[in-house]
Amino acid sequence: MRRTVIAGNWKMNMTPSETKAFIEALAPMVAGKDKCDIVLCVPFVDIATAVEAAKGTNIKIGAENIHFEEKGAYTGEISAKMLKEIGTEYVIIGHSERRQYFGETDATVNLRTKAALAAGFKAIVCLGEVKEERLSGITNEIVRMQTKLDLAGIPAEDLKNVIIAYEPVWAIGTGLTATPEQADETCGVIRECIAELYGAAAAEEITIQYGGSMNDKNAAELLAKVNVDGGLIGGASLKTDAFTAIVNAANL
Ligand code: 13P
Repeated sequence: MRRTVIAGNWKMNMTPSETKAFIEALAPMVAGKDKCDIVLCVPFVDIATAVEAAKGTNIKIGAENIHFEEKGAYTGEISAKMLKEIGTEYVIIGHSERRQYFGETDATVNLRTKAALAAGFKAIVCLGEVKEERLSGITNEIVRMQTKLDLAGIPAEDLKNVIIAYEPVWAIGTGLTATPEQADETCGVIRECIAELYGAAAAEEITIQYGGSMNDKNAAELLAKVNVDGGLIGGASLKTDAFTAIVNAANL
């Protein structure tokens, strides 16, 4: 059975000292909640502190991006080796904010995913339609295309380290959540696409999260859907009580 993964995406929030305080407060609140994996993806400068604070807890630490080259003249970028050495286990790739504001494309998402997998990280690959695409009725085509392009050339044996985060762009940071039915349907379309690419067993195994204004109020309904295997949570992952409530909703 596939794992439910509840992951926070802190985006550009929290300093190292705030990170330490947050994890020390969160750890006892989520202790023993073992029906899901619990991950916090944090800014690069917070990772080492987060890894230290999370030692001996059930909280795992991830980055919010990774570069695809091993090293070299890529000012401002962070390599797999750097992330590995400080204890990072997960990496978010292709978040819509990277696509919207930093020129990320399906081609670079694919390169970053390959680099992350080669280095032994769990890759949380984000995809989803923008508002106009949903209104035009082409959501299914869009997420199928993104799934194919983002995973192009990734062999079946690496798929166990891939998590897909379905994040409709119109639902991110807007307070507009996809309905549980919409989330379930679109996660199901992605799962079907995985089945076409990798076979039915791989499609059954892969964790597909929903992300976009998931919070303590709506998490239980979303997570109850058969195709929704967790959440990638922005705003609500910055509050220990809201994040704990989402973890609890995954442990019912
Ligand atoms: P919000 O939960 O703040 O809408 O952000 C979702 C997201 O982008 C997670 O990656």
